[in-house]
Amino acid sequence: MKIAVIIPAAGMSTRFNGSGQDADLLGMGRSKLDEDLGGKTVLQRTIELFHTHEHVCQVIVAGPHDHEAMSSFKLHHADRINLLGAELVAGGKDHRWQSVQAALGSVSDDATHIAIHDAARPATPPDLVDRIFDAAARFNAVIPVVPVSDTLKRVSSDPIDDKSDADPLAAILGAGDAIPMHEVVGGIDRQDAVLVQTPQVFAKDLIERAYQQDDLSSTDDAGLIERLGERVVTIAGDERNIKLTRVGDLPVLRAIMNVHGNKQRASHKRF
Ligand code: CTP
Ligand code: MG
Repeated sequence: MKIAVIIPAAGMSTRFNGSGQDADLLGMGRSKLDEDLGGKTVLQRTIELFHTHEHVCQVIVAGPHDHEAMSSFKLHHADRINLLGAELVAGGKDHRWQSVQAALGSVSDDATHIAIHDAARPATPPDLVDRIFDAAARFNAVIPVVPVSDTLKRVSSDPIDDKSDADPLAAILGAGDAIPMHEVVGGIDRQDAVLVQTPQVFAKDLIERAYQQDDLSSTDDAGLIERLGERVVTIAGDERNIKLTRVGDLPVLRAIMNVHGNKQRASHKRF
């Protein structure tokens, strides 16, 4: 088994930057992949999950689509990507699947399988990586999942317009944004639901076929295999395999990984 690992890393970190819109417009949004996890970036930690694994033949990082954003990305990451023997390609502008699609073009001919792992998941335990690679030797499409602990409900897509207790002073000062409220419109049986993680691993032919479909819209790669009508098999994921999405995830990640951020280190050791 020879596995090419694709790491989509072209996202805008919108949720990480709060509502994100102002930061994006001004080009000030901070990339969550640059954050410091014990002296290494999030992206470096993620590449290191795979680059020396016995089954991995290649690691491909899909960086930003735009030329300017790619230049800044290279300033932060190119030296590490090279040192770790990974390759860098330009990813997709708007959607994760575009980044994966771009990286698929660089997969080497000798790869038998393709693993796809979010750059924003640097804390994946090594035994999960081993477990999913083992399963990939037996099944053509495998994904890690964890059970849902909380109750799930369906809510209206439009928020409730609640002005009754709006604070006029807060409105003038621009503080105290209304907490979005939605109406519950139904329940979802938790027994039938799981939370899906990465790495997701596929036989190379199958994922290549999945990416030849006309409609590639999907928030994960397994969704495209399902669209082909092929079987996707789940294995046990891990609660520690969290995706850095909002800024509050950062201290949780550091605690899971038992590392500090740069403010907790001497200034000459920060980056
Ligand atoms: N990603 C990508 N190309 C995109 C969008 C996302 O390669 N066009 C990557 C991200 O860099 C991340 C992974 O896909 O490693 C999971 O995406 P997500 O957590 O949603 O990251 P962002 O898209 O950056 O965050 P947000 O949705 O909040 O903007
Ligand atoms: Mg996203």
